[in-house]
Amino acid sequence: MSQLNIEIENAKSFIGDKFLPSFREELSNYHRMLVDKTGKGNDFLGWIDLPVATDADLINRINEDASWIQAVAEVFVVIGIGGSYLGSRAVIEALGNPFQSLLNRRVHPLIIFAGENLSEDYHANLLELLDHKNYAVAVISKSGTTTEPAVAFRLIKQHLENKYGKEEASKRIFAITDERRGALKNLADSEGYVSYVIPNDVGGRYSVLTPVGLLPIAVAGFDIQALMDGARQMREVALHSSDYEQNPCALYAAVRNILYRNGKFIEILVAYEPNLLYFIEWWKQLYGESEGKENKGIFPAGVTFTSDLHSMGQYIQEGTRTLFETVISVEQPARTLQIPDDSENLDGLNFISGKRLSEVNRMAEFGTMLAHVDGGVPNIRISIPAINENALGQLIYFFEFSCALSGYALGINPFDQPGVEAYKKNMFALLGKPGYQKETEALLKRLNQSG
Ligand code: PA5
Repeated sequence: MSQLNIEIENAKSFIGDKFLPSFREELSNYHRMLVDKTGKGNDFLGWIDLPVATDADLINRINEDASWIQAVAEVFVVIGIGGSYLGSRAVIEALGNPFQSLLNRRVHPLIIFAGENLSEDYHANLLELLDHKNYAVAVISKSGTTTEPAVAFRLIKQHLENKYGKEEASKRIFAITDERRGALKNLADSEGYVSYVIPNDVGGRYSVLTPVGLLPIAVAGFDIQALMDGARQMREVALHSSDYEQNPCALYAAVRNILYRNGKFIEILVAYEPNLLYFIEWWKQLYGESEGKENKGIFPAGVTFTSDLHSMGQYIQEGTRTLFETVISVEQPARTLQIPDDSENLDGLNFISGKRLSEVNRMAEFGTMLAHVDGGVPNIRISIPAINENALGQLIYFFEFSCALSGYALGINPFDQPGVEAYKKNMFALLGKPGYQKETEALLKRLNQSG
């Protein structure tokens, strides 16, 4: 059963009464294309069945490796970029304590991400830290050829081998990559690393429920079976019907596309829990890379409130009216904190003394929603009961399925990313990679002209 609830009352006045009913049939076609696997990119639909096709042996193996890593390492470095790190980071940060790195009573390794940028300072600082930490590494790349993680892995592999010797280092490296192809696959085979496979038919940004996401999440101490169970529950709902009333994915995909067709080109995903910051980043990648094609697509932006009400709030309230908001609302916090009474009341806050902080946060959410709706910003509200593994599994699958439907509504292939190649080609040419000589000359000429 789905514990996720979607409310569109505050988007309705922006889409008119007739649009949702008239979109029903169109949407049911997209739903059929997805379920029957007849739409664009249908060779990349393996993610649809992951929650039911992932066998218990794989989950056990991941949990066993995670226990071993927990026993030998105080830091687990996860090397990957895009879909090869955002999903695990989203879940780990959502479930974790933001002050974990400072806690002495930490029981599980601290997860540190690398290879998701090319910063010399970041990686030099990391290597310096690793001089003093007992650590293990996951290197994750579906293609096995992505520059950022490959560079980071070369640096960290050398560090690890110098620190522990080649044999022990090999035991501390976990490679997650394609079953057959790529430089990482070759390296893993020749060095004898423990390896996990990213299924052929699952693209990077849909891979959080494969070992890509599951191993780091398990090492961080979270329950990956509960995460998969949540995804399975949402899968049942998503596949069962394309009716708005029964399928929140269908409703979300329909409303956001109708808004887009009515000039709302930017969707802001909003959370009132700072722990969801990386969930927003994961969502931005999922939707940005899936939909932004052929000069079309809703631009995915994200904010965490109330912090960003003091930076982006002004624009959202009164700037260019091309925005809509989707709010992830969490019904129950995990902890309890009441605002104390103060007999002097010098700060004038006694009117909220005795209230829980979450109640104040909730009123901020409702107040903001009404203000933004009055300012011309439609609001979709997605609520989950709490931030836990089950709810996050549901939310992940909800957004994945909705994204696929939504991509079909835009008429694009939601499972490829041809545009990402353009920067890589230029970077390789500028770095003098063999085979790029002609491009190198042309680019240098352009840079010299602009310089
Ligand atoms: O969603 C995607 O396919 C991309 O964002 C990839 O995850 C990202 O480019 C990393 O690719 P790889 O895992 O091949 O290194």
